[in-house]
Amino acid sequence: MLVLGIETSCDETGVALYDTGAGLLGHLLFSQVAMHAEYGGVVPELASRDHVRRLLPLTGQLLERCGRRLADIDAIAYTQGPGLAGALLVGAAVAASLGYALNVPVVGLHHLEGHLLSPLLANPAPRFPFIALLVSGGHTQLMRVDAVGDYQLLGETVDDAAGEAFDKTAKLLGLSYPGGPALSQLAQSGNPRCFKLPRPMIASGDLNFSFSGLKTAVLTLVRGANTGGHAKADIAASFQQAIVEVLVAKSANAVAREGLDQLVVAGGVGANRPLREAMSKKAEREGFAVFYPPQDLCTDNGAMIAFAAAQRLQAGTLGQNHSFSVKPRWRWKPVESARSSVKVNSPAVVGAQASRMVPGLKLAGRSVPKSSLMPGGRVEPWTTVQV
Ligand code: KG4
Ligand code: ZN
Repeated sequence: MLVLGIETSCDETGVALYDTGAGLLGHLLFSQVAMHAEYGGVVPELASRDHVRRLLPLTGQLLERCGRRLADIDAIAYTQGPGLAGALLVGAAVAASLGYALNVPVVGLHHLEGHLLSPLLANPAPRFPFIALLVSGGHTQLMRVDAVGDYQLLGETVDDAAGEAFDKTAKLLGLSYPGGPALSQLAQSGNPRCFKLPRPMIASGDLNFSFSGLKTAVLTLVRGANTGGHAKADIAASFQQAIVEVLVAKSANAVAREGLDQLVVAGGVGANRPLREAMSKKAEREGFAVFYPPQDLCTDNGAMIAFAAAQRLQAGTLGQNHSFSVKPRWRWKPVESARSSVKVNSPAVVGAQASRMVPGLKLAGRSVPKSSLMPGGRVEPWTTVQV
C-alpha cells in the first residue's frame, strides 16, 4: 500500500510517500522559517497562504523524485490537528480533494501520533511496548505505547511545553525565531553550571512537568544580571541543562514505573543534542534502550504522517471517507476529545484546483460551484475554478 502523507499544521509544508512493502520512499519539506523570521514568530495567515502555494508543487516533485504517479497512491493521510486552523485546512482540503479525485481513502491523523510513531522509522527501531517522551512546541507528554493505536498518557506538562519554554526563553535572550535551535546553539559556548535555576517538579513523584516557572526564573536573571559578554550563553546553557535534567529524570521514572526497557524520544525538542546525550547516558546507567527518530524526522514532516497512517490503515483502525474536518485544539488523551472542530464538506473546489496544478490528475469535467473553502475566511487564489 502506497500512502501519501501531508503535514501542514504549522510553519512547515511536509509531504512523503510511505510504501508498506518498501518503506519510506521519500519526503520533502518546505520550511517557512525565513518568511516568519522577520515577525519573530509564526504569522498564521501567512502560514496558510504559503501552504496553499507550496503543497501541490511539492507533491508533484515528490512523486517525480520517487518515480511514482498519482494513480499509484492507495491512501492519503493528513494532519487533522492540533495546529493552526487555516494551515490545517489547507492540508485537509488538498488531501480530501485528491482522495476524492483518485477514489482512495483519506484519513486524518493526530499530529502527535505521527511524532510518537516516528522512531519506528529509525534503524534499529523499538518493539512494542515502549515509553515515549513527546517533546514539541505544543506538547510535553509521557506515553506508554503498547501497539499502534494503543496509547496511555502517563503524564504531561501542566503549563508550558518544553519547546515553548525554549522558544520563550530564547526570545527573552533576544535570540531570533525559531528559538529552540538558536538557544541550543548559544548554549554550546556557555557554562551549564553558571546559574542555579530550578528543576520544576523533578521530585513531584508523578510524571507531570511544569516549565513556566523556569522561564520566569530566566526573566528574573535577565532583568537582574548583566547579560553582556558571556552571560547570555551561560544563561542559555543553564536553562537548557535544567530542562534536560527534568526530561531525563521523568522519562527514566516512567520506564521504571511501567517496568519496560525501551524509551523513544520524539518531537522537535528531541533534536536537542544535549538532551540526546544525557538521555543516552542515563539509559546506559539504568539498563534501558533509547531510540530517536532520524534527525530530519524529529521536527515536523510528512513522513511521520504517512508512516503512522500506514500503520493504522494496516491495523484497520482508521475510518475513511472524503468529508473532512480539522481540530486545531485537539487534546490527545487516551479518550480523544475534539473541543474545537471546523467542518468542511466540499472538497470538489480544491480538487478542481488540484487537477490543474498536479499533472496527471483527472477530474470528470464539470463546473465547480463557487463556495467558501475556509469558513469565515477568503482564500485566494483558490476561490473559483472551472473544469
Ligand atoms: O515537533 P515540532 O517541529 O513542532 C511542533 O509540533 O511543535 O517542534 C518544534 C519545537 C519548537 O519549540 C522548537 O524550538 C523546538 O521544537 N526545537 C528545539 C530544537 N529543535 C527544535 N528545541 C531545542 N533544541 C533543538 N535543537
Ligand atoms: Zn510537531
